[in-house]
Amino acid sequence: ARRVKLAPSILASDFARLGDELRAIESADWAHVDVMDGQFVPNISFGLPILAAARAASPLFMDVHLMIDRPERYLRDFADAGADGLTVHVESTAHVHRAVQQIRELGKKAGVTLNPGTPLEALRPVLADVDLVLIMSVNPGFGGQKFIPNSLERIRTVRRWLDEIGSAAELQVDGGVSATNARAVVAAGASNLVAGSAVFGRDGAQAGLERLREALK
Ligand code: DX5
Ligand code: ZN
Repeated sequence: ARRVKLAPSILASDFARLGDELRAIESADWAHVDVMDGQFVPNISFGLPILAAARAASPLFMDVHLMIDRPERYLRDFADAGADGLTVHVESTAHVHRAVQQIRELGKKAGVTLNPGTPLEALRPVLADVDLVLIMSVNPGFGGQKFIPNSLERIRTVRRWLDEIGSAAELQVDGGVSATNARAVVAAGASNLVAGSAVFGRDGAQAGLERLREALK
């Protein structure tokens, strides 16, 4: 079995205690950073200064999920602010291929993603050029939503496509991932799980991470 990476989403953390929250997830693999612009998605989260603060406070891989229109305008800024990986939505730009190239030229890991209502075919032209594919299992914009069941089928399809081309790209899943469904998500082919409310939501991030790890045993 592949070793699954866990990527807690700091969107669900207590921003007033961001440093402590990042320390509480230091045993995780990545920190997932959800940037929302109030245009591409109907919510505004945070941007460059918060990423820079997180970067300064933590050695974790900063996995930045850009839910913003025309992300190519800001790729360099997010790279400079400390992103290790940058993931762009196919729906957010007419030039997703160029955006992926730009991320790589900046020396960062390039990710591509799509909303639950977007046909998977939109991924195929860039599949061989990315380090990560993110399957959204909720409509992006908010934490704490319910996992959309047919996401499992979408994960299986992309797993097959990646295997067919011999790609070692991460297959990440984001939205409604919890100890209840983590096993099924990994069985469908995911290598990397984002979790916000399941990690930070109840009795602290350490306990949340522990529950996810138990579920994956
Ligand atoms: C949704 C974000 C997610 C969100 C996940 O728009 O992309 O990363 O933080 O939160 P949970 O795990 O609570 O669904
Ligand atoms: Zn996200």
